Amino acid sequence: MLARRERLLGPNTPIFYDNPVHLMRGEGVWVFDADGKRYLDCYNNVPHVGHCHPQVVEAIARQTATLNVHSRYLHENVLDYAEQLTATFDAALSCVVMTCTGSEANDVALRMAATATGNRGVIVTDHNYHGNTTAVMQLATLLPHDLGQPAHMRTFPTPDSYHLQPSEQTLEDMAQRVLAGLDESIESLRQSGHGLAALLVCPIFANEGFPDLPDGFFEQIKKRVRAAGGVIIADEVQSGFGRCGSAMWGHQYANFEPDIVTLGKPMGNGYPVAGVVCREDIMHSFRHNTAYFNTFGANPVACAAASATLRVVQEENLLDNAMQSGQYMQQKLELLSERFPVLGDVRGAGLFLGSEIVESRESRAPDAAHGRALINAMRDEGVLMGLIGRFDNLLKIRPPMPFNREHADQLFETLESVLARM
Ligand SMILES: Cc1ncc(COP(=O)(O)O)c(C=O)c1O
Repeated sequence: MLARRERLLGPNTPIFYDNPVHLMRGEGVWVFDADGKRYLDCYNNVPHVGHCHPQVVEAIARQTATLNVHSRYLHENVLDYAEQLTATFDAALSCVVMTCTGSEANDVALRMAATATGNRGVIVTDHNYHGNTTAVMQLATLLPHDLGQPAHMRTFPTPDSYHLQPSEQTLEDMAQRVLAGLDESIESLRQSGHGLAALLVCPIFANEGFPDLPDGFFEQIKKRVRAAGGVIIADEVQSGFGRCGSAMWGHQYANFEPDIVTLGKPMGNGYPVAGVVCREDIMHSFRHNTAYFNTFGANPVACAAASATLRVVQEENLLDNAMQSGQYMQQKLELLSERFPVLGDVRGAGLFLGSEIVESRESRAPDAAHGRALINAMRDEGVLMGLIGRFDNLLKIRPPMPFNREHADQLFETLESVLARM
């Protein structure tokens, strides 16, 4: 299959594990391979309410058997969903554009920011990925590309609470350095004539390695961005729909109000649907200044999938579950890290947790090779997890939202035995 995949899809296409998994079906937090082997899914945030959740399956099947068509007709599904979705945001974030992918959502958000501010400049972290359209991919610093760095792009340093600089003692010291980098980039955009249209950022820095942040960090960012005439785009493709447990949205968890929010991955539980939520004034300037049509965005089936997914999140109290399971898992991970110094720390929130795999506690030197060996060994034992972060050594535990204590026990028993063996 690998040879066939390479011949048909080309070389170098991303695939997980040295011994890739050939999945056939999924149910809840479980997936099953071609030999019938069962894996505990501790990684996937797209099947947000669980693989093949019956309510989402039923909603998609019912709507697809009734009508599916592009988005240029009146249909209640999109209006019902827009109301249901915006009700979960603060009152000012009241309008929605629907797309098919998170990349498109960020692309649209950047256009909104430019029309709303009259500026062109964009600031991102120096370890970012926000999607694969040309406008978004050219901002990426986490993955290689051949687009070059555009003249209107600047970066600011990725916050890293685990690897403080020698001059830093506290998270506040780290934050001051990050903010100074942001100030420099804002000034550089001003001098270049681009000005600042947007700061595009994930409110939990998911791809950057979800560092701990001091209180009020994002308020300080927002003050600077606003003073420069720009807007904040919160990329909630990973942090949204209750992932952090204590709030529906990552920006609520991080305690600030952005101007534009982009959504994706979990939104349709696997059905490709994504979107942008923004203030009314931003939507009006966008709609008046630029035409936007997306054939599949906001189609009746996409809206049925998204609506059913959000309903399940609310009816099954999945935020509470993420809080409780997440806290339980943090404790378990901390106990393990006391026994196995290769686990450098424990961090994250809700059902988005991790630990840096390091050479030693003292040096904190990242050990990506050990991390890779660990997740491959876990895969062989029937537990799927991944790696992320600045040094690609941060264990990423980000399971479907119904993940409970029993699942956590199985995850940590397996992790313990693999760590002991290694
Ligand atoms: C933070 C973030 N934003 C945007 C995207 C792009 O989403 P999509 O792959 O749906 O285009 C990703 C994908 O990994 C992401 O992690």
